[in-house]
Amino acid sequence: MKATRAQQLSMSFDPGALAHRAAEPPAQYDQSETDADEDALGDCQWSTSVALDPKHRPQVWDHPSSTVRREWCRYPQEAHLLDEENWRYRRLTVDEIAILQGFEPSWFQIPGMTNRNRIRAIGDAVPPPLARAIVSVINKQWNWKRRTAVEICAGSGGLGSGAASLEGMEHLALVDQWAPACAILRHEKPWGADRVHCGNVKQHDFSNLKGKVGFLSGGPPCQPWSIGGRRKGFVDPRDLLAWIHELVGTLRPEVFAFENVPGLVTELNAEYLTSVLSNLRVAGGKKYGVVAGVLNAADYGVPQIRRRVIILGFRDMPTAFAHHVFDKIGAAATHRDPHLPAAGRQRWRTLRDALDARPDPGGWRKWIDIVPEPRPLGNRRR
Ligand SMILES: C[S@@+](CC[C@H](N)C(=O)[O-])C[C@H]1O[C@@H](n2cnc3c(N)ncnc32)[C@H](O)[C@@H]1O
Repeated sequence: MKATRAQQLSMSFDPGALAHRAAEPPAQYDQSETDADEDALGDCQWSTSVALDPKHRPQVWDHPSSTVRREWCRYPQEAHLLDEENWRYRRLTVDEIAILQGFEPSWFQIPGMTNRNRIRAIGDAVPPPLARAIVSVINKQWNWKRRTAVEICAGSGGLGSGAASLEGMEHLALVDQWAPACAILRHEKPWGADRVHCGNVKQHDFSNLKGKVGFLSGGPPCQPWSIGGRRKGFVDPRDLLAWIHELVGTLRPEVFAFENVPGLVTELNAEYLTSVLSNLRVAGGKKYGVVAGVLNAADYGVPQIRRRVIILGFRDMPTAFAHHVFDKIGAAATHRDPHLPAAGRQRWRTLRDALDARPDPGGWRKWIDIVPEPRPLGNRRR
């Protein structure tokens, strides 16, 4: 049973109670949740096992945020902020989470949309500063025949905002099957609401766009590692990365850019990724120069450690050209890990840099006293 807020505040150190809490699994997104629950945000369920996991600690003012995730809609410990003295904490607001993801909060201020869906959408997105950096470097290196774009698995349009920032680039279509994402994509965005299609991208008819697309981008999900290491990605119907070469073959864009999670480049998935890249290199009987690499949004001024795999492809170009462009994107980084030397770059932005000028939204609660001394934060690399 959930502790009430008053019970949590009065909670004192009780090893027995904590042992019980430590056995609780971390909160997961409950698919059975109803709309009525959506704004009734429950109190955080603290547990020692999660508090001691460096990936799941609350945020602190003087570091970038850890990776924002859609599961923050449940307000796990990561979605909380510790006060300076480490003795009280509060939830991050939805607007603050949007800022940590590099968005203007207004991007997600959609009439009637629940806070939880806004957080889910934010958590899935590519931070716009990273998207703009990628697309602006491509734009400098590529002579477009057509300044047209298609975005698949568009989510809330974080990656799509990159192409939209290019002068004269027109979105022909943005496709996503999640209704809240489509509502965000249709609300006061830099592309026409009529360009947004809500449905399964695999069933979408792209035949009328064949040969008309300059830039194809998107965040197709992949499931190869999520099934107990059995690497079912190739046969999992939810997996779109292994299918993506078919769409590239249909549209034959000049350039493509796909984003994914960094787990894709682990050894476990090497065979899968190699196969995805090999298929893209010969998609539709064309030759594409293709490269995959990892970028960190923090290096582009986003106050968050967020590593993402980016797959880039260029029609009728050698692989070496794709590597060249990727290197240029790396060189366009504006910020750096403060522990590493990188001349001319500012240190990573922190929560303080991003949020301090905003009014305190309140909601501070006392830290649950699970350790007698203030919590040692040490060298909190994320
Ligand atoms: C990681 S998110 C993409 C985020 C996006 N790149 C952004 O920057 O906002 C993946 C999206 O793919 C969508 N998706 C997954 N499978 C799909 C399918 N078969 N057809 C259309 N959309 C799909 C999900 O609804 C989700 O919004």
